[in-house]
Amino acid sequence: MIPYGRQDISQSDIDAVVNVLQSDFLTQGPQVPAFEALVTGYTGAKHALAVNSATSALHIACMALELSVGDWLWTTPITFVASANCGLYCGAQVDFVDIDPKTYNLSPEFLEKKLIVAKNENKLPKVLVVVHLCGQPCDMQRIHALSQEYGFKIIEDASHAIGGKYQEQTIGNCQYSDITVFSFHPVKIITTAEGGMVITNNDELASRMALYRSHGITRDPSAMTHEPDGPWYYQQIDLGFNYRMTELQAALGVSQMSRLDEFVARRHVLAARYNQLLQGLPITLPWQHPDSYSGLHLYVLRLDLQELTRSHREVFESLRAQGIGVNLHYIPVHTQPFYQRMGFKEGDFPESEQYYREAISIPMFQTMTELQQDQVVEAVRKALQ
Ligand SMILES: Cc1ncc(COP(=O)(O)O)c(C=O)c1O
Repeated sequence: MIPYGRQDISQSDIDAVVNVLQSDFLTQGPQVPAFEALVTGYTGAKHALAVNSATSALHIACMALELSVGDWLWTTPITFVASANCGLYCGAQVDFVDIDPKTYNLSPEFLEKKLIVAKNENKLPKVLVVVHLCGQPCDMQRIHALSQEYGFKIIEDASHAIGGKYQEQTIGNCQYSDITVFSFHPVKIITTAEGGMVITNNDELASRMALYRSHGITRDPSAMTHEPDGPWYYQQIDLGFNYRMTELQAALGVSQMSRLDEFVARRHVLAARYNQLLQGLPITLPWQHPDSYSGLHLYVLRLDLQELTRSHREVFESLRAQGIGVNLHYIPVHTQPFYQRMGFKEGDFPESEQYYREAISIPMFQTMTELQQDQVVEAVRKALQ
């Protein structure tokens, strides 16, 4: 089976992890700060904090923005559930904004319309989580302008997007957001097995997220209520979690960072080749906004069902039967039973639901060979017949 995504692990990655295993620190050593420094250097942002997943990253990002009971978090339905669940962890309510039919990202037009209504009803969101789906950045300049007008905070869920650019600027620089989040799950662009990162230019948000990452505990005397009792002393000054990344993971992250640009460049070569080889079929290929240099985590096809005799499910099953590990990113979050119990229903977000009826993610990963890609293309042709 050719998977839809797969990690790229080199001998130097393996050596980096083995070195840590033979070192003094398996956790809370020098690798985590080294990884964080590489990410701040790469993105140009002021602070980066490594955590054990992007899900944890989203949680502490929402906490740092003081999202709480009585508040609203808005996000897109076309995302992994974690982008919405983080609001619920904080006791807030979640609502969605439908997608742009071309980019499949949260639509600024729908956002503006919904904000006008929410303002009249006194239900404006406190936090908006935008998701750079497949690695393609959202229309951040417009969304940021709306955040200034309506007074909400922005988290960029860039789980798919490390290594990409928006308007020539590196994703993660937080120019148009309060906090950016990356994921390092193995199907993503770089990996630390499990892992994530929060990035911000705001000192206050960074220090709060550092607390929440590790039990709400500080060792900084200036943050304590009194002078330390001695060199052993720490204080718990808030309620946090153990969301720390291990040294093994961070060492892998450090090693992977050195190949990030190469990984994304390779994905662009593969995407250009797909764009060429899949021409003329009854499918819509991924459209790229001119402002964007996508991380290309995913390559999503949309079936032109009117032109096909086969159903979406039949095409998907045919591809799987031919050994192609296709997937579907994503089932609209508001159609999940857990969210339907909150009152969401089919029909609430038509563009997202239409996308779900047509989308298929075909394999896209940097170690993919041209031969494998040819097999995928052949299988797609066959599945569509
Ligand atoms: C858009 C998005 N947000 C958040 C997550 C959660 O990432 P993690 O698995 O690192 O917790 C994912 C992972 O699939 C994702 O795709």
